Amino acid sequence: MTGLLRPSAVGRSPVRVDGPAKVTGRAPYAYEQPVREPAYVHPVQATIARGRVTAIHTGAALALDGVLTVLTPENAPHLERGIDPELEILQSPDVAFRGQLVGAVVAETPEVARQAAGLVRIEYERAEHDCVFSADRTDLYRPEVVNPSLPTDTSDGDVGTALRDAERTVVATYTTAMTHNNPMEPHTTVAVWDDDGLTLYDSTQGVHAMRESVAPVLGLDPGVVRVVAPYVGGGFGSKGTAHAHLVLAALAAKRTAGRPVKLALTRQQMFSLVGYRTPTVQRVGLGADPDGRLTALSVDVVEQTARIKEFAEQTGVPARKVYAAPNRRTTHRLAALDVPVPSWMRAPGECPGMFGPEVAMDELAQACDIDPVELRIRNEPETDPETGLPFSSRDLVGCLREGADRFGWRRRDPRPRARLEDGWWVGTGVASSTYPVHASPGTTATVRISPDGRYEVLIGAVDIGTGAWTALTQIAADALGVPAEDVHLHIGDTDLPEAPVAGGSSGTTNWGSAIVAAARSFREKYGPDAGPGDEHTASTAENPFAQRYAMRAFGAQFAEVRVHADTGEIRVPRLLGVFAAGRIVNPRTARSQLTGGMTMGLSMALHEESVFDDRFGFVVNHDLAEYHIATCADVRSVEAYWRDEHDPYVNPMGTKGIGEIGIVGTAAAIANAAHHATGARVRDLPMTPDKFCE
Ligand code: MOS
Repeated sequence: MTGLLRPSAVGRSPVRVDGPAKVTGRAPYAYEQPVREPAYVHPVQATIARGRVTAIHTGAALALDGVLTVLTPENAPHLERGIDPELEILQSPDVAFRGQLVGAVVAETPEVARQAAGLVRIEYERAEHDCVFSADRTDLYRPEVVNPSLPTDTSDGDVGTALRDAERTVVATYTTAMTHNNPMEPHTTVAVWDDDGLTLYDSTQGVHAMRESVAPVLGLDPGVVRVVAPYVGGGFGSKGTAHAHLVLAALAAKRTAGRPVKLALTRQQMFSLVGYRTPTVQRVGLGADPDGRLTALSVDVVEQTARIKEFAEQTGVPARKVYAAPNRRTTHRLAALDVPVPSWMRAPGECPGMFGPEVAMDELAQACDIDPVELRIRNEPETDPETGLPFSSRDLVGCLREGADRFGWRRRDPRPRARLEDGWWVGTGVASSTYPVHASPGTTATVRISPDGRYEVLIGAVDIGTGAWTALTQIAADALGVPAEDVHLHIGDTDLPEAPVAGGSSGTTNWGSAIVAAARSFREKYGPDAGPGDEHTASTAENPFAQRYAMRAFGAQFAEVRVHADTGEIRVPRLLGVFAAGRIVNPRTARSQLTGGMTMGLSMALHEESVFDDRFGFVVNHDLAEYHIATCADVRSVEAYWRDEHDPYVNPMGTKGIGEIGIVGTAAAIANAAHHATGARVRDLPMTPDKFCE
């Protein structure tokens, strides 16, 4: 039935479609997929940062009861080379970073596999390694592009002269730490070979993306590789591209004569095998007139990449988009080191890249004696500062104003170090937030009516915990004109229509648009008499407005910080964010995305740092006991609100993406609040207590 007067499902907060299965333990995550007689694989990792394996002694491991085989560079199945150096495991004795896979044990149980992996003895010929990240290196290089394929450097006008001539200037260096994604569910893969090919049950952000990466390396036609991921316990980017363990599981299963193989990385292994956020050094220059209007804006970034594979984080990119200034420059330079390969971490580029500039804006506000909210409003551009295109919608000013009202900004005493309460310095700060709208044309969905008369919607999307199961069901219900209860969604399988990753905050844009396209043409094709067996598939086209408008979400982050006057202990009793991110499909799951991002931003601001020992080339604090992620005790009040924003250009739903914007700007707001509290300007993350006790 089609109900014209049916209230829209979008905009409401039904309980999660996947909730009951998850809370009752019936939702199978990758490692739990029931397969017959699985064997278990445990990796062996290089213990040198550079060199080669000269001998590998597997006798003791093989002698252990329950060990099936030991894979080494000498005996591993062949892989295609020259496609992705990170994935070409066990094909040569060369070691490119500490923690790289140099072997693996397959055994009857995970415990035996792990014990045996510890018995594999490896001899190396060491080469001198270089893991020292520094902006002062003389061998920094300019990548061709920065991620995903953006200009490395941009320049308008003459920043140097404008900075020299400016009546107010801030020129300072800001740094962000190397950090690692730690989703609750580690990276796991179950690999099964049979007569039809290879099936990978994988904890991933994108089933089709994994297939496209892994099949060619394995020398397989993608058509014989199936990737399945119905439920995933978080990713944040670390499961957005294929990593070595996925290939390892496939290789191991090739050796077990049809027996499925299960692989679960340990938390420690994740610190060298699934990517990380590069440390960044950001030299920021701001020049302004006495009224705070920017005349110059420069951001020069240095970050690291791995020598075996380039990853160029787009840290300077958000500064191209947020404020107007006639003279502008952004640059990126990389240090190529003997380190694990950096990768995606929630709001790559945008998140670290809004730290330096947004703290610099706070410093400029102080230099001009202007309220930091007002300073940002004064520098609001009329069009995209980089391209001159109009924004499809932009409500940064609305976010700043509403946030200031809700937060109680008006009562703020602008003087730093003015409020001491029970031995704690108390302050508040603000920062802007932004994240682009990404879209991948060619996303496909199928709508059909099942024999029992229910609408089925099929798409190779993945819900990594975001709420996609629920949001896509709501979008499908409205597009079909039926109640959400009548829609049965199928996701998480390459057997379903092709869809891009849950990444770049683009899931709802891409998958939702494909579902709307399929539903609309289904209704046109079959009309009100649609019945069991009717089916229609459609793909998304290029958004005709993509070249005519700049499309971005914006937000304003407010923080209250307390710093202990004696110890420097820093606490964040309150975070408040207001976001303009287009239409919100499901307020319940959206709020969870936004407050989750803000919480991760708090964690980045205060705690998260992968302490890299460049003498040995590895992260010393490589477990959750020492790599501290904000816990309940660290996080107090976190409030997220959104503007009622109607954007007719972004996509048929009017959504902009909410998975990442919550983390952008949070750390800067906290740093600015910490300065307001103490008068100490901390420009380096994380803001540990020692930085307030100098
Ligand atoms: Mo996210 S870092 O785009 O998976």
